[in-house]
Amino acid sequence: MPIYHRLGEVPPKRHTQFRKPDGSLYHEQVFGTVGFEGTSSLLYHLQPPTKVKSVGTPQDVSPKIVVENNLTMRKLLGFSVKPMDDFLDSRVPLLVNKDVTLGVAAPRNSLTDYFCKNADADELLFIHKGSGKLRTAFGSIPFEYGDYLVIPRGMIYQIDFDTEDNRILYLESHSPFETPRRYRNHFGQLKEHAPYSERDYKLPTDLETHDETGDFLIKIKKQNALHSLTYASHPFDVVGWDGYNYPWGISIHDFEPITGRVHQPPPVHQMFQTDAFVVCSFCPRLYDYHPLAIPAPYNHSNIDSDEVLYYVDGDFMSRNDIAAGHLTLHPGGIPHGPHPGAYERSIGKKETQELAVMVDTFRPLMLTQAALAIDDGKYYRSWVQGEL
Ligand SMILES: [Fe+2]
Repeated sequence: MPIYHRLGEVPPKRHTQFRKPDGSLYHEQVFGTVGFEGTSSLLYHLQPPTKVKSVGTPQDVSPKIVVENNLTMRKLLGFSVKPMDDFLDSRVPLLVNKDVTLGVAAPRNSLTDYFCKNADADELLFIHKGSGKLRTAFGSIPFEYGDYLVIPRGMIYQIDFDTEDNRILYLESHSPFETPRRYRNHFGQLKEHAPYSERDYKLPTDLETHDETGDFLIKIKKQNALHSLTYASHPFDVVGWDGYNYPWGISIHDFEPITGRVHQPPPVHQMFQTDAFVVCSFCPRLYDYHPLAIPAPYNHSNIDSDEVLYYVDGDFMSRNDIAAGHLTLHPGGIPHGPHPGAYERSIGKKETQELAVMVDTFRPLMLTQAALAIDDGKYYRSWVQGEL
C-alpha cells in the first residue's frame, strides 16, 4: 500500500521498549511482504502472535482443473453458482494459473466462528452484491456494492455481512496488488493524471483490541490446503500499528474514466497491477467525441494475455446477450472484438452506463470443473450467429 497509515498507540522509536500500564512489554511484530523488500507494518500485540495450541489435519482445497490448454472463448454464468452459508466454502475457483486464481462466491453468513488467513496469496474481493465490514487486527473497513477490498497475504480477518444476498468476485494473487506504476511519482504519490487519488482510499479505522485468551481457530490457506490452527490468544489484540502493509479498499465508482476523441485502449481503465496480471475498471463514461468516432472497441489480438471480463451492471455496448454476473474469457492467441451489430450500433452514442471488471493475465488460464459447469458452451460461436 503506497501511503503510510497508523492507528492506536506506537512507541516513539521502533524496536524499543514499549510497556503496558502494568510495566510488562507489548509484543512487536513486523508484518511484511516480498521478504523484506515489499511494504511492511509494525504491530504491537498484547500477547505474542506465536501461541499455537493445536494443529488440525489439513483439508485439500486445490482447484479441480479440467481444461489445462484452452483456446475457446467462453461465457461463464457467475450468478449460477449456489450461495453457501460459510464464507470459505462459498468460494468457487473458476480460472487458474500459477500466478492467480479467479473465482466467485455467494456467502450467506458472516464469518465470525473462526478467523481466516491466506498465507499464499494477496486477495482482492470485488463486492458485487452486499455490504458489511471487513475486520482485521489492523482495524475495520466498511464495504458496499462496488468496493474492491485488498487483503495482503498473511492478513488474519473476519467478515460481517449486513444481508444474506452477497455476491463477490475474488482474486488470489501470488504477487501483491499495487497501484499502476505509471501513475506514481518517485515517492509513490499518485500523479495528477491518475484516474483516482489517495482521497478515494478506504483505510482501516476503529482498531479492535481484544484482551482475551482461550481457543481461537484460524483457518490458514497454504499450498492449496486449509490448515486449522488454534491459538491461545485473540488475533485482534493490537494496541497500535503503523506502516504501509495493511488492508484497504477503493470503490469502482471512484474510478474517473479517461476518455478521448477516438477509442482509448484498455490500459486507461487500469486500476491495479501485479507482476502477472492487471485489473481494470470499466465505468460509466462519455464516449469518444471525434465526429466520425466508433465508440465500440476495434477487434484486437491479446496475443500475450488471457482476458477475463466480469460484468457488473449496465448495458455492455460491445456484447450481445450479456448480463450481470457473467464472465467472458477471451484466451490469448486469437483475436476478439465486438459482437455482430455492436460496431454500427455504437456510432452516435454519447455515453455508456457499463460497469465491468477486467482481469488480463500474462499467462494462460486453466478452467476448473466448476467453470465448465457454468459455461454456456456456445459463446465462442456468437460472432457467426445467423451465418450458419
Ligand atoms: Fe478485449
